[in-house]
Amino acid sequence: MPAPLRILTIIGARPQIIKAAAISRAIANHPKGQVVETLLHTGQHYDANMSQVFFEELGIPAADINLNVGSGNHGAMTARMIEGIEQVLLKKDHDVVVLYGDTNSTLAGALAAAKLNVPIAHVEAGLRSFNKRMPEELNRIACDHMSTWLFCPTETAVLNLEREGFRRSIGARPSIDHPLIDLSGDVMFDNSTWFAGISDRRSGLLSELRLPSDGFVLATVHREINTDDPVRLNAIFRSLLALNQEHALPVVLPVHPRTLKCMESLLDTEVLKTLRSNPSFHLLPPAGFLDMIALEKHARLVVTDSGGVQKEAFFFDRPCIVLRAETEWVELVQQGQAVLVNADEKLFAEAAQLILEKDARSYPRIFGDGHAAERIIGRLVSDLG
Ligand code: UD1
Ligand code: UDP
Repeated sequence: MPAPLRILTIIGARPQIIKAAAISRAIANHPKGQVVETLLHTGQHYDANMSQVFFEELGIPAADINLNVGSGNHGAMTARMIEGIEQVLLKKDHDVVVLYGDTNSTLAGALAAAKLNVPIAHVEAGLRSFNKRMPEELNRIACDHMSTWLFCPTETAVLNLEREGFRRSIGARPSIDHPLIDLSGDVMFDNSTWFAGISDRRSGLLSELRLPSDGFVLATVHREINTDDPVRLNAIFRSLLALNQEHALPVVLPVHPRTLKCMESLLDTEVLKTLRSNPSFHLLPPAGFLDMIALEKHARLVVTDSGGVQKEAFFFDRPCIVLRAETEWVELVQQGQAVLVNADEKLFAEAAQLILEKDARSYPRIFGDGHAAERIIGRLVSDLG
């Protein structure tokens, strides 16, 4: 029997743990012994409801290694991760490193692996916001340029890479100097498709909160540009309160730990008091993925600055207000299913009004066929096996 393909998967932040579920599932479905995965958790997210809950709900094998690098400034956090990942890779036990998205854990994995000549497979390659003030944009550009396999979720991602000099056809074995672009589809679409039925059976959150289907707003806010800027943070919460009051729609907001800290220190006292005393404004701890799907499936409107939540709203045919000036998921805006309002109260109110006047629609399927993870594993096995 040929030697198995040995993958080191690096995860750290909530969305990466969720994405890794799709790849781990594809590995488990592969013929036994052909692919062996080691899961390395950097520890970037560490609260039980930001990390452990996803392993339990999504059936992800326990992490083999946890570097316990949580919190800190970008440089310090990334440096400690690189050190830990390098120690693992120096043992030469892995043929490829799989990285997801654009967090500091992604960047650390890319630098450690590329310097040791271990090839990198980047899942969610090619996305660009064209805003280099966001740490994520720097992380994703750097990672793409150190990768051997660029697994793109959308055609736009492929075009972004071509603009930076990557080629669709390389005529050689993939390597860091001849990276391969693969339009694999989106592993998050795989997950939403796979877990939607399980969420229907297991999530009781809607009935617990007495939320009418199609009659509430789901909101998430966690981006550094929004949480750490008092003007933006206050404008966002004032907009959500106005939406709640003027349209008589309950708001559900599972609060990211970063946001909780900033709300307490940066929100105007009056705004915070109104939020906390309002029985139809549900400030919750971070939700598990099955509850999150239930909320996304049944919301009348989704308001978010999250990359993942924007897309999941789209997967479940829900309109979305995006609390940013730009997005990597440009298709959603171009097609009209998402509206960019930045942190502008007037734009927010206008967008909400227009969305709420329209009837429900069903959105096109542009993120693959729900089997991106199998395609990714199949490609790695055929190129490296
Ligand atoms: C990170 C990613 C961001 C991603 C987000 C997903 C980077 C640069 N940013 O942002 O791209 O969208 O994850 O959620 O990698 N905290 C806790 N408990 C936790 C995790 C975080 O209390 O389990 C608090 C800490 O105060 C921490 C702060 O949140 O300092 C920020 O966490 P960090 O991982 O640095 O960045 P995120 O804002 O979560
Ligand atoms: N998510 C979750 N619970 C929450 C908020 C988000 O399970 O309370 C999920 C969400 O469904 C999506 C992913 O986390 O799959 C998105 O992560 P996040 O918004 O933290 O980061 P981003 O996608 O912006 O990097």
